[in-house]
Amino acid sequence: MKKLIAVLGSSRPDSVSMKAAMEFIRGAKEAGYETVIFKANEMDIKGCVGCGSCRKNGTDCVIQDDMQKYYKELHDCDALLLTAPNYYSQVAGPMITFMNRHYCMSNPDKTTRLEKNIKLAAIYSQGAPESFPKYPAVYDWYNGTFTSKGMTLCYNQIIGGDSDIEKVCQNAYNAGKSL
Ligand SMILES: Cc1cc2nc3c(=O)[nH]c(=O)nc-3n(C[C@H](O)[C@H](O)[C@H](O)COP(=O)(O)O)c2cc1C
Repeated sequence: MKKLIAVLGSSRPDSVSMKAAMEFIRGAKEAGYETVIFKANEMDIKGCVGCGSCRKNGTDCVIQDDMQKYYKELHDCDALLLTAPNYYSQVAGPMITFMNRHYCMSNPDKTTRLEKNIKLAAIYSQGAPESFPKYPAVYDWYNGTFTSKGMTLCYNQIIGGDSDIEKVCQNAYNAGKSL
C-alpha cells in the first residue's frame, strides 16, 4: 500500500489549512493511500544545532526527539503533505524548525539521501487575500527545501482570507484523489 505522511502546521480548532488537509487526505485514502498524521504543535521538535554529524556520517539527525518517528516514516513514504499558517509574513515557527531538521536528508554533495521518489503537496493559509503578491515566494522557498531532497511538488494551495473554503476543500480532495 502507498503511504502519505501529513505534517500539519496549525492546530487551531477552526484551522482552514487543517480543513483542506483533511479533504486532501480523504481523497488520498480513496486513491489507496494509508496515511500517517503528525501535528507539529504537538510534537517535541528541537532546533537543528548545526553539529554536522548527519552530513559527516550519512545518517538521520542524531537529536532524539519526535523527528525520529517522522524520519522513519519519511524514508518509507510515497507522498508528503505539509501545511502551515502564515505568521508574520513567514511560514509559522514550528514548521520552520521542522523544515530545518531536513539538513540530514542531503549528502555532502547535496544529492538526496531519500531513496524513494516522494510526491510533495503543500497547503498554506494566510489572512491576506489569496493573490497577495508578497507570499508565493515565501512558500516557494519553503517548498524548495523539500524539492532539493528530490521530492516532486504536485500540489501547492494558498488559502487566503478571501478564499472560498468550500472550493479550496474540493480542490484539495481532488488533488488527494489524483495523487
Ligand atoms: C501570530 C499571527 C501572525 C499572523 N501573521 C500574518 C501575516 O503576516 N500575514 C497574513 O496574511 N496573515 C497572518 N496571520 C493570519 C493567519 O495566517 C490566518 O489566520 C490563517 O488562516 C491561519 O491558518 P489556520 O486557519 O490554518 O490556522 C497571522 C496570524 C497569527 C495568529
